[in-house]
Amino acid sequence: MSLFAKKPLSAFEDDMKKSELKRVLGKWSLTAIGIGAIIGGGIFVLTGTGAYYHAGPALAISFVIAGIACVFAALCYSEFASMIPVEGSAYAYAYGTIGEIFAWIIGWGLILEYAMGSMTVAVSWSGYFNKLLKLFHIQLPEYLTKDPSSYTGEGFAMNLPASIIVLLITALLIRGTQGAAKTNNFIVVLKVSAVLFVIVAGIFCINTANWVPFIPEATTILHNGTPESAYGWGGIISGAAAIFFAYVGFDAVSTQAGEAINPKKDVPFAIIASLLVCTVLYILVSLVLTGMMNYNDFDPLGKYPDAIKAPVAYAFEIAGMPWAVFIITTAATIGLISVIMVMMLGQSRIFMGMSKDGLIPAFFSELHPKTKTPYKNTIFLGIIISLVAGLTPIGTLADMTSFGTLFAFTMVCIAVWLLRIKEPNLQRNFKVPALPLIATAGIAINLFLMCKLNSHAIKLSGAWLILGILIYFLYSKNHSKLRNQKL
Ligand code: ALA
Repeated sequence: MSLFAKKPLSAFEDDMKKSELKRVLGKWSLTAIGIGAIIGGGIFVLTGTGAYYHAGPALAISFVIAGIACVFAALCYSEFASMIPVEGSAYAYAYGTIGEIFAWIIGWGLILEYAMGSMTVAVSWSGYFNKLLKLFHIQLPEYLTKDPSSYTGEGFAMNLPASIIVLLITALLIRGTQGAAKTNNFIVVLKVSAVLFVIVAGIFCINTANWVPFIPEATTILHNGTPESAYGWGGIISGAAAIFFAYVGFDAVSTQAGEAINPKKDVPFAIIASLLVCTVLYILVSLVLTGMMNYNDFDPLGKYPDAIKAPVAYAFEIAGMPWAVFIITTAATIGLISVIMVMMLGQSRIFMGMSKDGLIPAFFSELHPKTKTPYKNTIFLGIIISLVAGLTPIGTLADMTSFGTLFAFTMVCIAVWLLRIKEPNLQRNFKVPALPLIATAGIAINLFLMCKLNSHAIKLSGAWLILGILIYFLYSKNHSKLRNQKL
């Protein structure tokens, strides 16, 4: 059987009927899952880098561009979710349309988005947690907050908070999706309130002179010792790639289709709704931030050297509202928990889909008899993510998460279009309007943003995909149920 063998769409229907996952998620819980995964450290941290090194006050336009790239992909995800509402997300969509080997590569690439995303966010969570402790005058010893290679002292070192939060979330996920969704709903209310607070309180501190010129003239600027072009329209576009990480997550809704009460309708709704809410919030936050603080003041060699590390909190400190720092730090600390949770949830469900198809071992799809969650897979993931987050320096790998996400977005745009051509009469509860246009624009903009990512991250992600191809030929190809005609 060819490498491009496709899983018949009827087999997805069978999977759905056989699924033992509990259908507990309604429209709003699904939307909260999307928002829970999207709003995280990105908006609180990357805005300074985006303004100073890339776009200046026009950072808001960078957010619009990245938002548009996501909307194109979100529409395509929604059409798929309305037809193939199973837990594998982009992996499953590709399996039904462009064939097994592509599906495998996408599934493998999604590990960058979900598993690596949760490691990266766990490390930034640890940073916020330590900041919060410091506000209460508690300081953990350095050897318990740094991974061994970042630790400057001698002896044992580990980023213990990062490891522990992952293990706690793992325990919550094993207990059941409903409980995890309730925790997520609560956290989402809290973090959306915090973002609204930033916008409303910040509006009163805006100095409109900081927005002039809105698009600073293009120039070169030193970034990590190398001159890079910044500002102008080129800077706006590279800014969109730099802040893309802040949007990562809405597609996690599609991994929950197996647990949705009415997946064909509610998953498309939740994908689009969560993305639109966050896009509007992000544009407003970036406008407020660049109005509160001049983009030049984020210069790490300038008068506020630390501002770029925590730009939103810093802007409020400079505006004479140090208590706002407490609100933002608390919201980020609690808010990041739901990002890690949804990312891990998404990864476990993608593994589950791949395992049901035989491409990875069967234990990844075994459900707990009582909680009906894929507990073995969740424990496996929890241990790996916890160890990597605690022991390796992964702070700079956010770009690899963006790579995995953009890669999946591109593939989903291609696949939805192909399926429309090949199976035009299939029942679709949601149809992308003007598909050829939206899909082409989605493919172009997502590929373009991918090329604009940090070159080291691109190389590492490429190596990751090559490793995936090797594993496919050494294991998955021989165990595929489709190839062995068990589907
Ligand atoms: N979008 C998520 C964040 O910004 C991953 O943390």
